Amino acid sequence: MRVLVCGGAGYIGSNMTAMLAQAGHEPVVFDNLSKGHRAAVGRARFVYGDLADERLLSDTLNKYAVDAVMHFAAWIEVGESVQFPLRFYKNNFCHARNLLAAMQDAGVDKLVFSSTAAVYGIPQTVPISEDAPTDPINPYGDSKLAVERMLRFQCETGRLRYAVLRYFNACGAGDGRRLGEDHRPESHLIPLVIQAALGKREDVKIFGTDYATPDGTCIRDYIHVDDLCRAHLLALDALEDEPQIICNLGNGTGYSVREVIDTVRAVSGRSFKVTEAPRRAGDPPVLTADASRARTRLRWRPEYTDLAPIVESAWAWHSEHPNGYAE
Ligand code: UFG
Repeated sequence: MRVLVCGGAGYIGSNMTAMLAQAGHEPVVFDNLSKGHRAAVGRARFVYGDLADERLLSDTLNKYAVDAVMHFAAWIEVGESVQFPLRFYKNNFCHARNLLAAMQDAGVDKLVFSSTAAVYGIPQTVPISEDAPTDPINPYGDSKLAVERMLRFQCETGRLRYAVLRYFNACGAGDGRRLGEDHRPESHLIPLVIQAALGKREDVKIFGTDYATPDGTCIRDYIHVDDLCRAHLLALDALEDEPQIICNLGNGTGYSVREVIDTVRAVSGRSFKVTEAPRRAGDPPVLTADASRARTRLRWRPEYTDLAPIVESAWAWHSEHPNGYAE
C-alpha cells in the first residue's frame, strides 16, 4: 500500500516509515520538521509540508496515489498544553480536521491515528480498558479525544475507516536500534535518565515520591516502539474488514520511576545523581494498559515485555548518538 505518514520524521513516525518500507509498503513522509529530524527519514519519499496547508495535503494524496494515511504529527508536551491550550487545539485538532478534509477530497478512506492514554485522565481502575471513561485532565489529552470523536462521526458518513491506537509510554530505539528518541527539549523519562548516565545532564529529577504506590513514585507502562509500530501494520490490515478500531497499546506491566532509574543504572553500568523533586502537575499515579483487545482483534503480540531490553535498545542508540540527530 502507498501510505502517507504525517509526522514521519518524528520519533514514532520515523520508526513506522522504516517498518512500512520493510513490510513492502511504500511510505511517503509528510512533515514540517518543526519537531522531527530529516536524518530520521532516510531514503523514504519526503514531502516538506505543514498540515495547515490543506491544498498541499490534497495534492500530495493525489500525486502519490495514496491508499491510506498514518497520522503521527502532533504536539505532545502535557505541561505546554496546559500553558498554551489553543496551540494544541490548532496543531492537534484543526490540523487533523484538514487532513480528513484532504482525504475526503482525494477519496482516501483509511486512517491510523496516534492517540494516547491521556484521553482517560486519572483512571478509576488499572489496568485501563478501552471501555473505561474518557475524561482528559489536560488540553493535550482533550485535543486527541476531540479528534477521536471527529473520526467517529466522519466514519458514520461512510467516508472513513479508521483505527485509533491509544499509546501508553512509547520508548526504546527501533529499526535495529537505528532510530531513537530525540525530543527538543527532552521531557520523557527514559531518555532523560540515559542523558544523565552519559554525563550530559547534571542529575535526574524524580517528580514526586509521595504517591500511593509501593515506592512512592509514579508507575507507567513502557512499550517498545517496534511493538507499537507492528500494531499499526496490523491495524492497517484489519481496516480492510472493520471500519472502526480503537485499541490500547501497552504491555500491561507497570514500572515505577525508581525502577526505570535502576534499570538504566544496571544496563549502562554508570552512576549518576538522582534528585527527589515535587510532583509534576497532571501526572496520574498509575497508568497501565489492558491491551487484550489489540491482542484478540489485531492478533498483536509485543516482543519486548521486560523493561531491561527496551532500555538496552535506547542506551545503545543514545551512546552512539550522544547529540541525537544533531550530528
Ligand atoms: N518523570 C520524572 N522525572 C523526569 C521526567 C519524568 O520523574 O525528569 C516521571 C513523570 O512524572 C512520570 C514518568 O516519569 O511519572 C513518565 O514521564 P514521561 O514524561 O516520560 O511520560 P508521561 O507518562 O508523562 O507521558 C506519556 C507520553 C506523553 C504523553 C503522556 C500522556 O510519553 O507523550 O503520556 O499522558 F503526552
